[in-house]
Amino acid sequence: MLRIISWLLLTLLSCAGLGAWFLQQQFEDKSADFRILYREITVKLSQHDAIIPLLPVSQDASEVQKILPQIVLWRRHNNLEPRRPIVPEANGRYWLNRPNLSLLIDLPTLLDTLGEKKTFQHLSISWNNTLLCEQGTAARSYWQWDKTVASRTQPFLVSASDSPAWAKLPWWLIASPALFWALVIYLLTQYQANKRRQDIADLRARYAELTRLNSMGELAAGMVHELNQPLTAIMSYNQAAVRLIKQDNPAQVPELLDAAVLQIKRIDALLSQFRQKLTSERTGYQRIDLPTLWQRVCKLLDNELKSVKIRVTSHFADDLPPLYAPPLWVEQILHNIASNAIQAQASGAGWIHLEASSDNNGIALTVTDGGPGLSPEALEQVFIPFFTTRGQGVGLGMALADTLVQRLNGTIEAGNTSEGGACFRLWFPLKDEEK
Ligand SMILES: Nc1ncnc2c1ncn2[C@@H]1O[C@H](COP(=O)(O)OP(=O)(O)OP(=O)(O)O)[C@@H](O)[C@H]1O
Ligand SMILES: [Mg+2]
Repeated sequence: MLRIISWLLLTLLSCAGLGAWFLQQQFEDKSADFRILYREITVKLSQHDAIIPLLPVSQDASEVQKILPQIVLWRRHNNLEPRRPIVPEANGRYWLNRPNLSLLIDLPTLLDTLGEKKTFQHLSISWNNTLLCEQGTAARSYWQWDKTVASRTQPFLVSASDSPAWAKLPWWLIASPALFWALVIYLLTQYQANKRRQDIADLRARYAELTRLNSMGELAAGMVHELNQPLTAIMSYNQAAVRLIKQDNPAQVPELLDAAVLQIKRIDALLSQFRQKLTSERTGYQRIDLPTLWQRVCKLLDNELKSVKIRVTSHFADDLPPLYAPPLWVEQILHNIASNAIQAQASGAGWIHLEASSDNNGIALTVTDGGPGLSPEALEQVFIPFFTTRGQGVGLGMALADTLVQRLNGTIEAGNTSEGGACFRLWFPLKDEEK
């Protein structure tokens, strides 16, 4: 609608502008015609003054009329009684009176003898508001030209009027802007549509990039969180090993180095996972034997468990089917829950218990501890990134666990046991091949 209105407006304005310009051209042409006509009339009238002394006394006008056909007759008179310099006669004639000679001049003939015929709708010659000669009709003329002849004896006012020659206007040219603007608006619309498409495509590409960048940041934060514990453990194992070697008591050194190697392997696995995410590789799903995996988690946290003396117990239902998932993901989930339980019981003599059971649709894992449990605030926000109540905590452990559980289409809930300790309930759906 807006386009049609713009097209109409632009077309109207342009057509009006072009029309006005062509009309102005016509007016200027006609004005030039009028100037020529005026000049020729002036020349002719001045000839009357020049011819008077040369006119013969006889009345035979034929010789004179060959040159000046507008002079109908002349009359010499000797009486010096004053006469009006111009005396109008009928049919466009007038007497030009001089002291001893009077000329009868026929203006229509004068106009006929002009070199170039200039056609005006209306042409008149008048003297002192008295019309001497008139051609055409004066009704409804748009343009008017008036100029008085610079002659002492015949100061006539030459007036012409005319109207535009509408039929002679180049209408096809005046109407051409309609086509021009239609083309311009069409091209503009096409350009806008293309640009909008391009902008949307650019926006999508940018959004995809931003999302990628965002998940990179999330990934990096996750990695920093996950690498922290194994690195601390490796350092502590190595320091212990060095101390034993210095004390010349190497018996336990291989065991410590084995534990360090286990942590290094975990770091390697975490980095592989990081690379997989960067390159959008598919994560490998495997059959997981939960008791073995839980054992491994405890081994990885052995250093922390021993240093604060925490007892770990577990119970796996007999008919527990194997879980089908990327082992590292499940390991990370349980590792983060267990880490928190250890940190919550840093005063020592605590416990952690894992209960694993199955129902028809999935596997349920419940991790409870003997700590103080989650505060009301923590109960609400434990899975929100960067929520922490620990001085050295980042607040990512549970957020990461939650993300991984979501990816496995499972659920995770946080609560407290009736004794007051923390309780995390996990549930993973069984895939077809697990049922
Ligand atoms: N077993 C638990 N007992 C008591 N509070 C817990 C327990 N597990 C989690 N919380 C509460 O939930 C918060 C968030 O845990 P989360 O693991 O996400 O972060 P964090 O342990 O504080 O820091 P980090 O990023 O190093 O893991 C903890 O700060 C703590 O207040
Ligand atoms: Mg934590």
